[in-house]
Amino acid sequence: MTKVFSGIRPSGKLHLGNYLGAIKNWIELQNEADKAIFAVVDYHGITTPFDPKTYPQQVADTVLDYLAAGVNPDKALLIRQSKVPQHTELAWIFNTITPVSWLDRLPTYKEQLEKSSKYNHMGLLDYPVLMAADILVYKSNLVPVGEDQMPHIDLTNEIAKKFNSMFGETFEPVKAKLTEGARIMSLQDTSKKMSKTGDEGIALSDDPDTIRAKIKKAVTDSGKDILFNEDTKPAISNLITIYHLLSVKEIKNIEAMYENKSYSEFKNDLAEVVVDFLKPFQEKRRKFEDDPKTVLNILEKSEDKARELASKTLEEVKEKMGLNY
Ligand code: AMP
Ligand code: TRP
Repeated sequence: MTKVFSGIRPSGKLHLGNYLGAIKNWIELQNEADKAIFAVVDYHGITTPFDPKTYPQQVADTVLDYLAAGVNPDKALLIRQSKVPQHTELAWIFNTITPVSWLDRLPTYKEQLEKSSKYNHMGLLDYPVLMAADILVYKSNLVPVGEDQMPHIDLTNEIAKKFNSMFGETFEPVKAKLTEGARIMSLQDTSKKMSKTGDEGIALSDDPDTIRAKIKKAVTDSGKDILFNEDTKPAISNLITIYHLLSVKEIKNIEAMYENKSYSEFKNDLAEVVVDFLKPFQEKRRKFEDDPKTVLNILEKSEDKARELASKTLEEVKEKMGLNY
């Protein structure tokens, strides 16, 4: 049985990196898997600075982005993490078996600590334990994510193994599912991945003129050839990757098409590829935006079902731990 789970923090508008590195896989997997659950992980989102006034809108925007990108409520559950309290309950239990030394060495923790001006709160350290609980509370075994999340998948397996060895066989191993183009870089600094902050990324909901302006401003490499080489031409290679993944043209063909053309011709065409690709997404998003009742209904139905599934695992866990009184 393939059981898929994945989630994204509602920390800003979803961008092409999120789509190509994660959500694209979700859409393919929801058709093949026996079960698929996709979450807006709002309790993860509050581990970094957020504004209580705008947070509900951010959560709602992420839900719309999921639906527009193709999450199909007939095939998958679409949930807001905090609406299924079993996630945090299992996370607490996992806290009691997870050595701190497994957490404070994780690269994501160190990065977040740098970014948070050294505000070293428990949530930052504990973030991956909640992620392990998100996955294991449904006994999921396949997790589509970008490659930056690999250490968290490894940790999830460590926690599962530790639980099994302490309290008896309960959780099976979890596998990550990475996509091609799993790392889309920033348009302004190719040493950083495209992210939700700043304007170095292309949001899925950006209008055509914004997209054109952002691609025009994207950094390029020295020289003038449009060739894929991540070492010598990281910026152009990143743009070629985006072109390739959105147009389904082979990289070799793209290089041939632009053999005698300039960076600016290439960029103009790329902008149109992105605009065309995002058009149906944006139309679908608008439809859902205009129909909040349907969206709420999808969420509430999914969350009911998710609570039911998650409470089964939690009962089993409590039973094994002598906590079922
Ligand atoms: P985040 O936006 O960091 O919350 O990440 C949400 C999901 O998108 C995770 O599965 C990430 O691995 C993936 N992701 C985020 N940024 C990128 C990127 N620039 N390229 C590829 N995947 C990404
Ligand atoms: N940690 C993931 C990120 O930052 C988000 C996440 C939370 C997640 N729980 C998850 C991803 C469970 C996959 C499965 O992108």
